[in-house]
Amino acid sequence: MSDTILIIGACGQIGTELTQKLREIYGDSNVIASDIREGTAEMLKTGPFEILDATDAEEMLRIVKKYQVTQVYLMAAMLSATAEKYPRKAWDLNMSSLLAVLDLAKDKHIKQFYWPSSIASFGPTSPKINTPQQTIMEPSTVYGISKLSGEQWCNYYHEKYGVDVRSIRYPGIISWKTKPGGGTTDYAVDIYFKALENASYECFLSEGTRLPMMYMQDAIAATIQIMQVDASQINIRTSYNLAAMSFTPQEIAGAIKSYIPAFKMSYKTDFRQEIADSWPQVIDDAKARKDWNWNHSFDLKLMTEDMLKNLKEKS
Ligand code: SER
Repeated sequence: MSDTILIIGACGQIGTELTQKLREIYGDSNVIASDIREGTAEMLKTGPFEILDATDAEEMLRIVKKYQVTQVYLMAAMLSATAEKYPRKAWDLNMSSLLAVLDLAKDKHIKQFYWPSSIASFGPTSPKINTPQQTIMEPSTVYGISKLSGEQWCNYYHEKYGVDVRSIRYPGIISWKTKPGGGTTDYAVDIYFKALENASYECFLSEGTRLPMMYMQDAIAATIQIMQVDASQINIRTSYNLAAMSFTPQEIAGAIKSYIPAFKMSYKTDFRQEIADSWPQVIDDAKARKDWNWNHSFDLKLMTEDMLKNLKEKS
């Protein structure tokens, strides 16, 4: 494969594992990791790394030219909970980084672009069960507004300038290697760390709050898959619904209890409850399954087994 890939936001929850996987597939020297902060020793050891502020279009162009980059994965973003605290900063970061890469593609500096959207692009008036690909979208969070607007920009650049941009509406992503920061679905990651540390967890969402979720391995597989399929298989240039499982805090606690019987869950909701309540509970991803043969591998039970096993080995 002759692609040279730039990952922006390579030190984040998804970026870390995406970098690792892409280096395995495309070769270490063909995958340039970048972030506003220095990468881990492993990231620096396995391939090129550049310090890059995702809003700095000039520096981005310099790096793209330096390595003759053909594909960009833009993983830098401010997530939902933090964005509610810094609305203007979130909008500036999420939108200016996206527009900078879209312009690189429009000006033919790169051939292909991956940008993630989210279930947060839906809002309180969207159907909550089997949320369709196309439906009412009135997000009530700044993060959601930035994702919905971003989707429309992607579609616009595709229609007007032929930009090959591909996107997925991620559900909450659960992983053990790198923790997420500032998201509403982060509880479903923290719970595993706390379960092993002290067999208890205080959850900031209520016990019945059902949200769409996905294990990291599936998210990485989907991300690389959508970038690798032929352009003729991509019929949606806003962003694809993507699903694997949906569960409540009570259900994930139950799954953990079957491995750690002493595990105790308590609940103390905060401002993130309102964010979660505005999002879908179960997503209909039939289009992704049909257009590019998406299929998930992990359900709640398999994920719980794998999370606990890896976290135990890590500690
Ligand atoms: N998981 C993200 C968040 O909670 C949504 O995309 O903010």
